[in-house]
Amino acid sequence: MAENSNADQSRYWNEQAGPKWVAARDTLDALLRPIGDAAIARANVIHAEQILDVGCGNGRTTIELQRLCGADGAATGIDLSAPLLELARAEATRAGLARPPRFLQADAQEADLGSTPFDLVFSRFGVMFFADPVAAFGNLRRAMAATGRLVFVCWQRMDDNLWMRVPVEALRGVLELPPPGPATAPGPFAFAEPERLHGLLAAAGFASIAIESCTGPLSMGGATDLDAATGFALQVGPAASALRDAPETVRVAAFAQVRKALTPYLQGGSIALPGAWFLVTARAS
Ligand SMILES: C[S@@+](CC[C@H](N)C(=O)[O-])C[C@H]1O[C@@H](n2cnc3c(N)ncnc32)[C@H](O)[C@@H]1O
Repeated sequence: MAENSNADQSRYWNEQAGPKWVAARDTLDALLRPIGDAAIARANVIHAEQILDVGCGNGRTTIELQRLCGADGAATGIDLSAPLLELARAEATRAGLARPPRFLQADAQEADLGSTPFDLVFSRFGVMFFADPVAAFGNLRRAMAATGRLVFVCWQRMDDNLWMRVPVEALRGVLELPPPGPATAPGPFAFAEPERLHGLLAAAGFASIAIESCTGPLSMGGATDLDAATGFALQVGPAASALRDAPETVRVAAFAQVRKALTPYLQGGSIALPGAWFLVTARAS
């Protein structure tokens, strides 16, 4: 496999994470929607724009972007994951828009993105998985209008995202965690270092790059009790990955440990833990 190929990510998002993200679509949306909505608001979508939603997943952001640009505009969601795109297409049909968004199963790093320039390239946590980020952002930029905007959100370090760190740390008592991989490897934390991210975007030709640090409490999938919050923590994200091949006895012990670790965060019938992400904006030129 070529060094800059996204074949591993394609396998991961089709075979492992994709089906889990489909099953957890509503709880994941409860976690991610406030962040995505703020990013969409920042994108200032106007009528009739051409929009690309990168790593669109279940398509909920693509549908919202289509709603905002109207029937004279067009939103396209691109993703590697067949199961998530199947869900996205079904959700788009259910949304019943006059003009439905389009969904494309392809690798944003190298896909031919067509000849109609995009006014906005958007992503909610879908751009951190590229094997070759400069090539990928370069491909996206070439598909944009000269005045086009790039707006995306990506995670800061796991240490600053207690909603992911607390469950993982709680697993230490029940299984040996693998040593952390390279900090910049494709994955949720690939852009956690803002200077590096700025350099990658500049190398891809983007201008007016701004990386804004955002923090806030994040709901554990909208859970209102500890069992549901623990189930969410073990379904997706780093703790789920750590437990992937674990036997049932370890899973049972893990559930108890994670539930205990989340207990201090149960307040007023909801469970929210600190999160940290970047809101990134740039111009194609
Ligand atoms: C963390 S999920 C976010 C999904 C969605 N944006 C959301 O907020 O629910 C990352 C998504 O990026 C997609 N993805 C990863 N690498 C990609 C690539 N090279 N090209 C297109 N999509 C990719 C995955 O398949 C997955 O659906």
